[in-house]
Amino acid sequence: METIQAIALRRSCRKYKATPISDVQLDAILKAGNAAPVGGGMYATMSMTVVQNPALLDEINQAAAALLGKPGMRPTYDAPTLILVCSNNNGIANAACVVENMHLMAADLGLGSVYLAATARGVAQNSALMKKLLIPEGFVPLAALAVGYSADPLKERPLTREKIQTHILP
Ligand SMILES: Cc1cc2nc3c(=O)[nH]c(=O)nc-3n(C[C@H](O)[C@H](O)[C@H](O)COP(=O)(O)O)c2cc1C
Repeated sequence: METIQAIALRRSCRKYKATPISDVQLDAILKAGNAAPVGGGMYATMSMTVVQNPALLDEINQAAAALLGKPGMRPTYDAPTLILVCSNNNGIANAACVVENMHLMAADLGLGSVYLAATARGVAQNSALMKKLLIPEGFVPLAALAVGYSADPLKERPLTREKIQTHILP
């Protein structure tokens, strides 16, 4: 797929089928994350944790819903795969780059995905859950990507310059 097509296809998916993604798809998504730019090339300051176990996903949903003050909400939208992107030096910009690369790769693979900040915060604030998820010592989840088969077909959107005000200086 052309990059421009993946960019046009990428959108936040908030409704997923229960069908799991394949190991081959997960591998491609994780490789895209690893290809992201990271400040100073300090990849060792980053860590990713992939969660696909339904019981753990349930606990993550509960932790994020508690943080949002909305018990019963499913902040991961019940996507079958959740990738937590962590840093040991507050690398929020790095985490965003990693998530966006994976978001685009998911679109390229015909999968739905969504960037989740609240879910990462919900996990980060629950030390028992952090232990259960085996988040490496000193690392904090800063962002996450939920991935799965979208319940609705992916649709390309027209690309526009109207959403972000831009000033092109003479
Ligand atoms: C830093 C960041 C944090 C976000 N956190 C959440 C989130 O916690 N939950 C959610 O449903 N969407 C979240 N989103 C998705 C945005 O709401 C979404 O990207 C935006 O509304 C634009 O829609 P689009 O992705 O479909 O183009 C986040 C996006 C970014 C970049």
